[in-house]
Amino acid sequence: MIVGRDEMGEFAEQMATQAVEWQKSEHNSGAIVFGLKGDLGSGKTTFTQRFCGYFDIKEEVTSPTFVIQKAYHVGQPVDLGAGKIKDFGGISKIYHIDAYRLEIPQELEVLGFKRILEDKDAIIVIEWPEKVADLLPSDTKYIDFTFIDENTRAVEYNWANA
Ligand SMILES: Nc1ncnc2c1ncn2[C@@H]1O[C@H](COP(=O)(O)OP(=O)(O)OP(=O)(O)O)[C@@H](O)[C@H]1O
Ligand SMILES: [Mg+2]
Repeated sequence: MIVGRDEMGEFAEQMATQAVEWQKSEHNSGAIVFGLKGDLGSGKTTFTQRFCGYFDIKEEVTSPTFVIQKAYHVGQPVDLGAGKIKDFGGISKIYHIDAYRLEIPQELEVLGFKRILEDKDAIIVIEWPEKVADLLPSDTKYIDFTFIDENTRAVEYNWANA
């Protein structure tokens, strides 16, 4: 799918909605993991910012390139009025990881990666997942990002929506 800046945001929000659906279906054995693949500047962090926006995270979401891992607390359910509530299915934390600068995958383990993988109330969004492929669960949801031109990117994934 070819996306401009706004559509990238809409796509990220769709993925967030999808993750909440998975969480509600309660089949998860641990954290829901998204693996964002693609070159430098292909839109992975931009996607994550909008993804986090859906969860009403109050802090500014910035690239974790130098700190490797950041944790964000998901907001409280929102009453939309007319009996509608936007809730997050019990998801309470989002971890944003950038594996680009890791020299060996084990560096992630030092940051407690195994423990957060077991957290059923967490979503992990990881840039450069290729760097830590062996540490990621087999049901990791990979998304491919490709630079098309200055304002346009392609996003692709090949797992089924719920
Ligand atoms: N359609 C688009 N979707 C996403 N980003 C876009 C789009 N058009 C332009 N951009 C710009 O492209 C840049 C993408 O940078 P971003 O930091 O998201 O890339 P990245 O894939 O995370 O790179 P890195 O691997 O270095 O972390 C941003 O400056 C963003 O504003
Ligand atoms: Mg990035």
